[in-house]
Amino acid sequence: MSSPNNADQIAYWNGDAGARWVAQQARLDAMLSPISDAALKAANVQHGEHILDIGCGCGDTSIKFGKLGARVTGADISAPMLGVAKRRTNEANATATFIEADAATHKFDSNSFDLLFSRFGVMFFADPDAAFANMRKALKPTGRAAFVCWRDWRENEWVRVPIMAVRPHVPPQPQMGPEDPGPFAFADPARVRRILANGGFDAITLNPFDTKVEIGNTLDDAVTYLMEFGPISRALTDASPSQREQATNALRDALAPHAKAAPITLGAAVWIVTAKA
Ligand SMILES: C[S@@+](CC[C@H](N)C(=O)[O-])C[C@H]1O[C@@H](n2cnc3c(N)ncnc32)[C@H](O)[C@@H]1O
Repeated sequence: MSSPNNADQIAYWNGDAGARWVAQQARLDAMLSPISDAALKAANVQHGEHILDIGCGCGDTSIKFGKLGARVTGADISAPMLGVAKRRTNEANATATFIEADAATHKFDSNSFDLLFSRFGVMFFADPDAAFANMRKALKPTGRAAFVCWRDWRENEWVRVPIMAVRPHVPPQPQMGPEDPGPFAFADPARVRRILANGGFDAITLNPFDTKVEIGNTLDDAVTYLMEFGPISRALTDASPSQREQATNALRDALAPHAKAAPITLGAAVWIVTAKA
């Protein structure tokens, strides 16, 4: 269960998860780049548009929008990730403003944004209907939303292969409900449509996008990355050293057939979602 005010997510993204995303920022952005390209294409940003980038994290998409000549506000609950976003924006000579804010409740300037955008930052709300209603108020009446979210984890080879390999060797994991906040909370298209409609959006479209994501240059590199990042790292939190060793060996065996060429890639499956305010 999640806390009604996103307090557990705020703790999570300011703790372990934020630290991991900060440490892996360059690699994650490279891994997610084919997905970013598809999401940015759907967003169809025009010079001078005012964009609200929800759950902007370490700033990759906010910086890209700034470079396209848009006015960007990146909003996130993670102080360490926002710190990286600000530093990278300066280093890139780009323009973007960042605010530490819970997008579910923050009082954004109303009627002021052309586009509500997110790369994997809108699946963590305890009350997503209320969160989308709040974010819609920030949009101009002519405004639109475009975001990307994961489809079911079983459709995502980069998640399924490691999970199935490691699962027999780690302590049983708490069962997540399909509507619990988390990376796969927007996998069900009917649920996404319902949340957006309840938030006041219409002309809702979900387009499936399938691609390959890079998980490493060598087998060892890919194993280390997947052990430290994503669903596997969570599953390993309470594992003993011997369970961890068995899990590592099982993951290496499962990835070996995919490691015939560099970089090693696995399939990824997302929804590209668009709607009108
Ligand atoms: C999976 S990360 C994606 C980060 C970034 N968009 C990217 O693709 O690199 C999810 C992000 O959503 C942020 N987030 C989660 N709940 C949020 C909320 N209620 N308000 C604002 N940001 C939130 C997290 O702090 C985190 O930065």
